[in-house]
Amino acid sequence: MTQPNMEAFWMPFTANRQFKAAPRMLVSADGMYYTDDKGRQILDGSAGLWCVTAGHNRKSIVEAVQKQIATLDYAPPFQMGHPKAFEAAEKLAAMAPKGLSKVFFVNSGSEAVDTALKMAIGYHRVRGDAARVKLIGRERGYHGVNFGGISVGGMAGNRKHFPVSLPAVDHLRSTHDLARNAFSRGQPEHGAEWADELESRILTLHDPSTIAAVIVEPMAGSTGVLIPPKGYLQRLRQICDKYGILLIFDEVITGFGRLGADWGANKFGVIPDMLTCAKGLTNAVVPMGAVLVKPEIHDAFMAAAADGAVEFPHGYTYSAHPLACAASLAALDLYREEQLFERAAGMSPYFEGQAHQLAGLPHVKDVRNLGLVAGVELESRPAAPGRRAYEVFLKCWEKGLLIRCTGDILAISPPLIIEKHEIDRLFEILASALRETE
Ligand SMILES: Cc1ncc(COP(=O)(O)O)c(C=O)c1O
Repeated sequence: MTQPNMEAFWMPFTANRQFKAAPRMLVSADGMYYTDDKGRQILDGSAGLWCVTAGHNRKSIVEAVQKQIATLDYAPPFQMGHPKAFEAAEKLAAMAPKGLSKVFFVNSGSEAVDTALKMAIGYHRVRGDAARVKLIGRERGYHGVNFGGISVGGMAGNRKHFPVSLPAVDHLRSTHDLARNAFSRGQPEHGAEWADELESRILTLHDPSTIAAVIVEPMAGSTGVLIPPKGYLQRLRQICDKYGILLIFDEVITGFGRLGADWGANKFGVIPDMLTCAKGLTNAVVPMGAVLVKPEIHDAFMAAAADGAVEFPHGYTYSAHPLACAASLAALDLYREEQLFERAAGMSPYFEGQAHQLAGLPHVKDVRNLGLVAGVELESRPAAPGRRAYEVFLKCWEKGLLIRCTGDILAISPPLIIEKHEIDRLFEILASALRETE
């Protein structure tokens, strides 16, 4: 297959010059596999980008989108509606963590996060509590790339090129604690007390009456699979409740079964006030995100606005796009029909066992896992952080496996349809790539 001209496309989050010198080109996908431009089968160990929950080319979703595009290709979402938008919201609300029954559609995780932050500040304001404008994120959090998301996010690399931030932001420390928690299986034992600094440091410094919301990923995915210590999220919830602060869970990765439960909220038994999701919402077939909120939040906006006024002046041209709604309705049906979240839970002990076989291989300083996600942390090369994991990623690609790397951490998060023999193959390839990496 001849290569396309690569001059024009400025690739996102990619080492463009390196890629264009040696491209990795995907041309089709089915089930657990991509096919590259050389006709090789590539085992998808990362569900695309944590998003192809039910595997690729699923017939019912493809057909739903095809049917929709031939029926209603687009409908403006401002002051107009189309039936599938309401149906998709109803279906999502019906499976949401208890009480999160109002749904605002967007087109990505980044948009979901910025929408949620605006909603949180707006909510306090419409209730007459306009001093609550500050937002608390966490170090090593990832909340997408828009200005709100990078402000509350805590990935130093993503922030350093853009040294501007929302003005009223602070961060909790990360829960990552290898000294005490290395090679944990499931949730680590140590670190619930890191939540207490919300009260002891941050609220003391800022005064609770100025804080609108705390936003965290229940499990931080993109920054290297950082699993919350037992009891940590419960403590955050208690402190937020004590001071009237909204708790937002960013479930862009943890939503839709990744942790072996429908949501991170339900996995950990902590219900936030607001939740952001995207990725698996449509099985990644059409871009879509959503913010789910408790009815009190929605109702406060409704009660505060004058008759006929727009209650929340926010939205996107493609909010609740008909194709995205059709894809989401079909994807959520498929997840239920195939009991994919239960399947992920059932498969996770086997996955855990295979993942932890990597312990003891060269440069492996941690293996951690939960549900169908695992993180493998490597010793960094002196003066070259991230290089070693990138080389392992490249070797895996050469051997027919797609994984993710972030810094010197490898992330494995296959579609939830993965079979045991594919788990074996995935970790065999990864082990041989680790053995061959200097
Ligand atoms: C927790 C979290 N929030 C937000 C985002 C951003 O989503 P998107 O890339 O769809 O904007 C991601 C993406 O990986 C994420 O993991």
